[in-house]
Amino acid sequence: MYDGDISSVLVTEEQVREKTAELAQQVAGDYADLVRDGRESDLVLIGVLKGAVMFMTDFARALPIPAQLEFMAVSSYGSSTSSSGVVRILKDLDRDIAGRHVLIVEDIIDSGLTLNWLLGNLQTRSPASLEVVTLLRKPDAVKVDVPVRYVGFDIPNEFVVGYGLDYAERYRDLPYIGTLDPSVYA
Ligand code: PRP
Ligand code: MN
Ligand code: MG
Repeated sequence: MYDGDISSVLVTEEQVREKTAELAQQVAGDYADLVRDGRESDLVLIGVLKGAVMFMTDFARALPIPAQLEFMAVSSYGSSTSSSGVVRILKDLDRDIAGRHVLIVEDIIDSGLTLNWLLGNLQTRSPASLEVVTLLRKPDAVKVDVPVRYVGFDIPNEFVVGYGLDYAERYRDLPYIGTLDPSVYA
């Protein structure tokens, strides 16, 4: 599949699975006392479409405490390879998060601009708490320093695809994370 487009595998399926389980255990431990009292106290996961879709579903299934699944879709204006920090909501939440413990689920933090905007936006809705779990982070690319409580892998500043991450909407369906061969976007 996608012959020649992926120059190397950066994170294997197995590594994704192990890290997801690890993050889920960590989150469950941290939230166990906060989410003990039933429906209204369930953790609210907000998956950021489309990139976070694979991680969101695997993370939710690995999480041993009750969590409700919500989604937002946002799009940053700008070119396809870099974001501008100006974000537009394509799909908003369906329900109120006031008083709820909220965990944003992201696939990757690159410049940090999308997340920085999203944190600001969600904070105005008065959640009881607001934290972030991301599978990947590119430390070299960060333009704004966003507080991220849970990080799976810090990765080099290369163009990566797979497991939800796209280039021009392709490669999201790969089960692992790979580096895109420069010939694809050259
Ligand atoms: C990607 C990725 C993150 C964001 C990270 O989403 O899924 O949400 O960019 O970039 P940043 O830290 O530089 O803001 P994208 O906007 O490509 O939309 P998608 O999830 O639908 O692919
Ligand atoms: Mn995204
Ligand atoms: Mg994208």
